[in-house]
Amino acid sequence: MFEHLKAIPADPILGLITSHAVDPNPKKIDLGIGVYRNEQGNTPMLDCVVQAEKLMIAAQTTKSYLGPAGVTGFNASMSKLLFGADSDALQQGRVRTVQTPGGTGALRVIADLIKSARPNAELWASDPTWANHLALFPAAGVNMHSYPYFDAATSSLRFDEMMASLAQRRAGDAVLFHACCHNPCGVSPDPDQWQAIAELAAERGFTPVIDIAYMGFERGIDEDALAVRLFTERCPEVIVASSCSKNFAMYRDRVGAISIVAENSGKADDVLSVINNVTRKNYSMPPAHGPAVIDIILSSEQLTEQWISEVANMRNRINSLRSTLSQQIATNGISRDFTFLERQSGMFSFMGLTVEQVHRMRDEFSIYIVDSARVNVASFNQQNMAYFIEALATVLDE
Ligand SMILES: Cc1ncc(COP(=O)(O)O)c(C=O)c1O
Repeated sequence: MFEHLKAIPADPILGLITSHAVDPNPKKIDLGIGVYRNEQGNTPMLDCVVQAEKLMIAAQTTKSYLGPAGVTGFNASMSKLLFGADSDALQQGRVRTVQTPGGTGALRVIADLIKSARPNAELWASDPTWANHLALFPAAGVNMHSYPYFDAATSSLRFDEMMASLAQRRAGDAVLFHACCHNPCGVSPDPDQWQAIAELAAERGFTPVIDIAYMGFERGIDEDALAVRLFTERCPEVIVASSCSKNFAMYRDRVGAISIVAENSGKADDVLSVINNVTRKNYSMPPAHGPAVIDIILSSEQLTEQWISEVANMRNRINSLRSTLSQQIATNGISRDFTFLERQSGMFSFMGLTVEQVHRMRDEFSIYIVDSARVNVASFNQQNMAYFIEALATVLDE
């Protein structure tokens, strides 16, 4: 069976984790893996999650199967969180949400859903996009293309070129957007630009597929759902993959959801039946632990308030690291402009280093960065920033 199999090289980020773990240098920094870190370099559980998990364990009486929809309270709360409690589409019964194993699980179900709905569908994604998008959709047989997005020369959005490319898309095409905190480039459309993109989607009739993996990390919970809401107001069909890995810090519990908006309630039920069929063939039913915890949080006013404030703390810390890093780079004699760090959002930014410079950072300074020079800003702290800037100045020859 296995004789023709060849080893596949490990994911570069996983390789970096291993190299960082065995590196004896006490000054080593891991800027690769995409998890939020506090000032001490840890990825702690949120207090609201710790409390809700205790309540959940105390109240639970069975672990019998739940069925393909999983925790229905979680699904209802996620619909409200994403589309807004007063969303017309929700009130019209056009939305269905089903929990999935993480945001990645949601994306895989979406890929299978697109393939079932339109076997020849083409999916367009930003250039660049999250590396796993590029692996996951083709693995389900969905053809992928890219549209212009990030301008490396100015570290900003290629808005006009993106719009010109999207104006070529048409009904039956799917177009993937990152709702906020773009991974890997940190650049998002502003609210006016989102509005123009949503109008174009309605005019051209393509189906928006929105990946929202960092809700609350850019401007706020509701603010970061803007793209979901604008598309839903304008388009008859929308597909959303959400992840609770980062904003509930429940990475290993694998909590996410697929939401679809259909033209009417009857069609939404049809699509739901296809989603249930896809999940049945893949993993039968989603895991309940994480969604049950989040259901408790989002059903409690007090725990929800606490969650919102804990997300705000993470967002504010990342934003303050962005300004401190940008300012300290400038005051340490590096002439290259890194002020884009302050204009971008979320955990990721490209530092604009060559592969050779990235390797020097690793080999000479034990600073681990993926070859694209994408860094996780949340991995900086008061202890390691000066050392990073010293290494940066050396490899930039400044
Ligand atoms: C853009 C994007 N989408 C989706 C995900 C999926 O997250 P998870 O499967 O861990 O919930 C990630 C995680 O890094 C991401 O960066």
